[in-house]
Amino acid sequence: MQLTQLKINGFRCYESLDLTFDQRINVFSGANGAGKTSVLEAIYFLSTGKSFRSKRSKNLINHNSNELTVFAQYNDKDKFKNKIGVSLNKALKKNIKFNSQKISNQSEIAHTLPVVSIDPDSYLFLDKPPQYRRSFLDWLVFHVKPEYLKIWSRVSRCQKQLNTLYKEKRQDQLGHWEKLYIEYADQLTEMRQAVFTELRDLIYIKVQLIIPELAELEISFYQGWSKENTLAEQIQKDREKNLVYGNLNQGVHKMDIKNSIIHKPAHENLSRGQKKLISIIYYLSYIELLSTQLKINPILCLDDMDAELDTEKTKILCDFIQNSSNQAFISTVDPNKLMALLKKTCLFHVEHNQISRLTTP
Ligand SMILES: Nc1ncnc2c1ncn2[C@@H]1O[C@H](COP(=O)(O)OP(=O)(O)OP(=O)(O)O)[C@@H](O)[C@H]1O
Ligand SMILES: [Mg+2]
Repeated sequence: MQLTQLKINGFRCYESLDLTFDQRINVFSGANGAGKTSVLEAIYFLSTGKSFRSKRSKNLINHNSNELTVFAQYNDKDKFKNKIGVSLNKALKKNIKFNSQKISNQSEIAHTLPVVSIDPDSYLFLDKPPQYRRSFLDWLVFHVKPEYLKIWSRVSRCQKQLNTLYKEKRQDQLGHWEKLYIEYADQLTEMRQAVFTELRDLIYIKVQLIIPELAELEISFYQGWSKENTLAEQIQKDREKNLVYGNLNQGVHKMDIKNSIIHKPAHENLSRGQKKLISIIYYLSYIELLSTQLKINPILCLDDMDAELDTEKTKILCDFIQNSSNQAFISTVDPNKLMALLKKTCLFHVEHNQISRLTTP
């Protein structure tokens, strides 16, 4: 998967931009506010139709434009050349074209041009609420287990039904829906647990290599209720409480990935740099799982990767990226550090909403 050309109009600080890329590693350097993140954001937007730093798509449109367009040429995993164009106007009407054909569903693009962003939000992996880690794992389960979506929608339907019954204090149909919920929720937990175990093993290997001083990091799967009980036992025990509160208290919707160091929560005990490294390791392991299991090699966007990391850690990460087969786009304020560590890299200088190519690998 390689992006070869990117054309941007009316996106963030760029009124117009046309870039060609190296097949492996592309580094964008420049001062604060120069427009580095905006380029990575445009690549991410092309794939997902969303921004990784703003909930409102309207913010992406340049202040002087009525519409944004992002266009790219890329080689897919079978080395076929493709063209993708996405436009968005102020009324939030989106237009997507794939090889000149109109497309209605952005997920088709995410499928053909997968992009994974590792950005300042991702670096807070350990500090985020459980919902963040749950979505992270579920997204992986969705890719790896074809039956995930079917099971997940059954679980959601049962949970919705149960919440209504608990709220209305109707006990007549409760047994039936609890039984159905337990059946599907157990299947979901089994899938999550299996994918989690594979992911965790990859993470442990990378922790040994990148942060051996944190070899005592312990990552565990919290299924959403105490492991002392089966889900059936838990639902039985919680019934009175669920009826009082009017909703399902414990269950698969509370799943989390717990990280601890010497039995203490990692997010309360590690340094910012250490937490950032662990977050990056989560994403690198995620990408590795996609690549080994599904032969998907997403494009990587790494925003401010080296900030807060010492040279030794940055070097290990650079080696990882260099040895992977993913095309990478990296932003930095300090090109000298990265360029000394990365080989065969294309460096771009970003200044006043203009980008110039400084080196060709
Ligand atoms: N919709 C918009 N229209 C025009 N300019 C915008 C818009 N949204 C953001 N900007 C501006 O774009 C500029 C570039 O922002 P960007 O986040 O890409 O910079 P950066 O190089 O990543 O900076 P940093 O090193 O601080 O992360 C900023 O000056 C920002 O204020
Ligand atoms: Mg930035």
